[in-house]
Amino acid sequence: MKTTVSHLFHSRSSLPRLHVMATSRHGRLLTTDSSKVDEPFKVEEAETKDVPPPPTEKLLVLGGNGFVGSHVCKEALDRGLSVSSLSRSGRSSVQDSWANSVVWHQGNLLSPDSWKDALNGVTAVISCVGGFGSNSHMYKINGTANINAVRAAAEQGVKRFIYISAADFGLVNYLLKGYYEGKRAAETELLTRFPYGGVILRPGFMHGTRQVGSVKVPLGVIGSPLEMVLQYAKPLTQVPLVGPLLTPPVSVTSIAKVAVRAATDLVFPPGIVDVYGIQRYSQAK
Ligand SMILES: NC(=O)c1ccc[n+]([C@@H]2O[C@H](COP(=O)([O-])OP(=O)(O)OC[C@H]3O[C@@H](n4cnc5c(N)ncnc54)[C@H](OP(=O)(O)O)[C@@H]3O)[C@@H](O)[C@H]2O)c1
Repeated sequence: MKTTVSHLFHSRSSLPRLHVMATSRHGRLLTTDSSKVDEPFKVEEAETKDVPPPPTEKLLVLGGNGFVGSHVCKEALDRGLSVSSLSRSGRSSVQDSWANSVVWHQGNLLSPDSWKDALNGVTAVISCVGGFGSNSHMYKINGTANINAVRAAAEQGVKRFIYISAADFGLVNYLLKGYYEGKRAAETELLTRFPYGGVILRPGFMHGTRQVGSVKVPLGVIGSPLEMVLQYAKPLTQVPLVGPLLTPPVSVTSIAKVAVRAATDLVFPPGIVDVYGIQRYSQAK
């Protein structure tokens, strides 16, 4: 495609010598000299090729090599974002070709000095870091690690921060105390530091294709039908202790879609999005 930019001026001889300067779409400086009186002039012919503009949104996915994180990376690339990931291993867990388009950083959120450079130029962060183990380990990985990330991102001027948290599961909350206390502590920090750009997604069980070593495990075989049935059981989830166990599962691709949208859509409302909200947003155009 060829675009011609031609500005026609007629200068008056009484006017002082004047330089007109403008910048083209490509950042080139265009100068004109009005001493060439009574002579219409062309500023410059700018050629624009059919190449997409470079992405202006730079997304950092914390835990981009995990189950949720890898789906988030792929979704963000599909949306034309520039994507990087940070994790302790610093490499992709999948062999798919899209993974070559992600910049893989190595670092540990529990050692803040090991990863601060990964935040350079980043406009939004999606944290998919979390996990299970002893109560103290679960608090550290779900809570402390993410609190560190939220603080560092806020100090660095990141605009939006999305945290993949988890739905309450009644009885299970008592059994996985460190997990839920860590999640809620990270949420509180996020809402405090990012009152306008902080979004918390609270899914229950997630289904989709999980990479385990070199094997792809199709969790949707169980998750999809369960999601279908349980989305109609919302009133039952209000039953104390056992009700939340009926929270419908949600697909990991829905989570990825909503997370990336929340990270890039400035009017996406800040705050907590529950499973039903995730389903709604994922179906929205
Ligand atoms: N999967 C579900 O059904 C489900 C349901 C509800 C909520 N969630 C939440 O969703 C989030 C993602 O879950 P997931 O299933 O994708 O987990 P996952 O596959 O275990 O991924 C966790 C990611 O965190 C990274 N990580 C762990 N510790 C780290 C640290 N200290 N510093 C930097 N990176 C670290 C891991 O990479 P390295 O090991 O290389 O560091 C990995 O990429 C978690 O917060 C989880 O609680 C999951």
